[in-house]
Amino acid sequence: MDSCLFILLGATGDLAKRKLIPAVYRGIVDREDAGRVAVLGVGRSNWDDQKLRDTFREALEDEGLGGEAADVWCDECIAYCQVGKDGELDPIFERATKLEHELDLSGNRIYYLAIPPSAFEKSIQEIGEQDEAEQRDGWTRLVVEKPFGHDLESAQQLNALVHTYFDEEQIYRIDHYLGKETVQNLLVFRFANAIFESVWDRMHIDRVEITVAESIGVEGRAGYFDKSGTLRDMVQNHLTQLVTLAAMEPPARFDAESIRREKVKVLHSIAPIDVRDVIFGQYTAGDGEGEEHEGYKDHEDTPPDSTTETFAALRLYVENWRWQGVPFVLRTGKRLPKRLTQIDVYFRSPPVQLFGGPGHCSISRNVLRIQLQPHEGFTLGVEVKTPGDGFDLSSQQFHFDYENAFGPLPTAYETLLADVATGDQTLFVHADETEAAWALFEPLLDADIPVQDYKSGTWGPTNVAPMFVADRRKATPEEEFAV
Ligand SMILES: NC(=O)c1ccc[n+]([C@@H]2O[C@H](COP(=O)([O-])OP(=O)(O)OC[C@H]3O[C@@H](n4cnc5c(N)ncnc54)[C@H](OP(=O)(O)O)[C@@H]3O)[C@@H](O)[C@H]2O)c1
Repeated sequence: MDSCLFILLGATGDLAKRKLIPAVYRGIVDREDAGRVAVLGVGRSNWDDQKLRDTFREALEDEGLGGEAADVWCDECIAYCQVGKDGELDPIFERATKLEHELDLSGNRIYYLAIPPSAFEKSIQEIGEQDEAEQRDGWTRLVVEKPFGHDLESAQQLNALVHTYFDEEQIYRIDHYLGKETVQNLLVFRFANAIFESVWDRMHIDRVEITVAESIGVEGRAGYFDKSGTLRDMVQNHLTQLVTLAAMEPPARFDAESIRREKVKVLHSIAPIDVRDVIFGQYTAGDGEGEEHEGYKDHEDTPPDSTTETFAALRLYVENWRWQGVPFVLRTGKRLPKRLTQIDVYFRSPPVQLFGGPGHCSISRNVLRIQLQPHEGFTLGVEVKTPGDGFDLSSQQFHFDYENAFGPLPTAYETLLADVATGDQTLFVHADETEAAWALFEPLLDADIPVQDYKSGTWGPTNVAPMFVADRRKATPEEEFAV
């Protein structure tokens, strides 16, 4: 791995401390093939080198990464640069060059924008201009946190700005879901196991359900969240990425370009979403995980008349040869009963119900559950005969748990940052993908969709449940087979 300077804008923030520094340390610094890696933290707060080192040392200790080697790294390879009130970046370039010289780094730089989206454009422009002006050996890579734009037009503008200074090969748009092992394993699962790929289509799959549930609320961020909402914050990026990976065709090669091309094709194949297939909700007071929680409107910084959705469920159709007529049903929300992320693939029932007649229990269909949170793994439900007289069936499960099989997994950010350092863009979002995803949801952003109340600790508005147990399609799977 090349040596590099990791220039972290937003170093005084929550993401830097909780996720990024532990990930930099474990994913890039503490590896056998590591080159020297230094961090130049940037912020407007009146911090100094020592304060940043202490903060990051504590962050490493919190993650069980403390120790002598980590202490030495913090003392030698972490520095802080304070920038002006408006975030002008001038001071950092001089400091960066000085550090590179002192630490004998090779001139490679990763700029990571862990700052509010409102500050992206100005920072990208300043970094871009500086990068063009500088005569520096080594590569420059730019990492941009989500959200990438807040609608189609803003995403296009941001892409245009980024491309003024950088090639697409230098840009790493983060969707941290793509760093999760199970998400990557979805590709291996599908394309390295002939038994699954051969049934991965409308002839064999009845429906796909994707759930991303959070038990937490907006946690003191209602001011930010209220301008965004769940459709922008979760559906347009995380859930849509899961749809594309579940639905994409096999790529010609396993490289970033081929995979991204197939994902974009899926996005272009999704039919316009019918507003009648969308349900929005907002949580009210209730209890969850044994605690009483206030409602979204009860938070101090929520506008009293807010109609921002904290829950969204929707049904979409990928109208291509493979998936025509198969509903992809998505739901995500805050203050749901538990934190979980899973993709449920419902296979069709057998064409003839040999075991469903009088005196036998009715058959249920095979379901493949790919679980991303809280435990990464998958479960395949199969029907077996219950021992004893007759032919009563029972659903049993084959289960695979990633951690049981391989031990502790790298965090998503660890995987992604290691990829940035090695220049692998496979798990990052291409400009075309961001725009295609915004184009898909743009009509819903403008639509007048009522936002219904749901009690904290429940699975969303009451009319959501039928979307997940019965479908509005005219034909049942059995009828379609009969045709
Ligand atoms: N936290 C998460 O789990 C998470 C997850 C996914 C994505 N993100 C994204 O990551 C970014 C940072 O999130 P965060 O949770 O770390 O936010 P945060 O705790 O509010 O920190 C924001 C950071 O940005 C700096 N900053 C604020 N306003 C700025 C401006 N106008 N110009 C330049 N710097 C500014 C702040 O430092 P100073 O005040 O010292 O300048 C601070 O270091 C956001 O884009 C967020 O959407 C966060």
